[in-house]
Amino acid sequence: MLAPTPPMGWNSWNTFGADIHEELIRQVADTFVEAGLKEAGYTYVVIDDLWEADERDEKGRLVPDPKKFPSGMKALADYVHSKGLKFGIYSCAGTHTCAGKPASYGYEEVDAQTFAGWGVDFLKYDFCYKPAGVDGPSLYRRMGQALRATGRPIIFSLCEWGTNEPWKWGASVGGHMWRTTGDINDSWESIEQIGFSQNGLEAYAGPDHWNDPDMLVVGMYGKGNVARGGCTDSEYRVHFALWCLLAAPLMIGCDVRHMNTFTHQLLTHKGLIAINQDPLGRQGFRVGQEGEHFETWMKPLADGSITVGLFNRHKEWRRVITAPWESLGLHDRRPCRVQNVITGEDYGVYTRFFGAPVDPHDVVVVKITPVKD
Ligand code: GLA
Repeated sequence: MLAPTPPMGWNSWNTFGADIHEELIRQVADTFVEAGLKEAGYTYVVIDDLWEADERDEKGRLVPDPKKFPSGMKALADYVHSKGLKFGIYSCAGTHTCAGKPASYGYEEVDAQTFAGWGVDFLKYDFCYKPAGVDGPSLYRRMGQALRATGRPIIFSLCEWGTNEPWKWGASVGGHMWRTTGDINDSWESIEQIGFSQNGLEAYAGPDHWNDPDMLVVGMYGKGNVARGGCTDSEYRVHFALWCLLAAPLMIGCDVRHMNTFTHQLLTHKGLIAINQDPLGRQGFRVGQEGEHFETWMKPLADGSITVGLFNRHKEWRRVITAPWESLGLHDRRPCRVQNVITGEDYGVYTRFFGAPVDPHDVVVVKITPVKD
């Protein structure tokens, strides 16, 4: 299995957009090691759109923009691999990428071979400029087949924005993860709209096949390609905690070379990452909702415990949010130990329900472990 737990890494798009070059990618790989991101589990360094030259070469192969990647992709992949990391790249199922560069429609085999030859470990595959009359899933099947034919293990990341309900067919075309929505941007509204709409898709995710609610905007603070005003620290905490509960791929989108302490601590938080990477591979779902603003979500874990997120979506009100045992599938009288995942605090043993005050646009994450008789 290539993705027994949700893939973790970094992608250039959210912060850098067109402004990518080989030195940046090398620095990101260095930072993975030096800042402990690699140790925390982040592995894939992925170059998104706009790495491509405007034309294919005389043999019909994609070539990198010589100004941005003068040493070529093979050398860059080798560098990333030398750090013990994996190398990812981007193409698109249509005739052009979303930013208008040459894409893989009609060239699936040659492109898959090119990527495998460079040492690519991860392919994000977009959905712009789709030829008229061709159905979406078959385009992904073609690239899935072409990747498989290379014999190289390559994570296949489908980016068709949920258009054709890829959770229903993504795994069957060889996909390891598929975007479920349109693009995220660095705002609370976007995090909220994408994150909380994932409820209901949990039956479609599991080891080697993950729903992908898009890359993280944690730590962008309104700077970069998808910046839209930015978020507060507690809003980024909600974002990261929710993506962890959702068993979502964790693809960092900020400039990791310049993370502040909060961003670094959040992105490398052992407890939250352990929930995301739990080997059972269950995606979290909503088990309670009061009005539009107060939500309780749960994610069952392999050790028999349950992670619960108490989410406050209200802008101003602080509020106690509860998780009744019954909603978690537990008998009312079952004693359970309750621990705060983010602070590490042990709240002791509870029966019937647990509740905690949650600040506006914030979350409390607890681990609820049934106590054996
Ligand atoms: C689409 C994708 C984004 C990004 C851009 C690149 O919008 O959904 O994630 O890859 O294309 O052009």
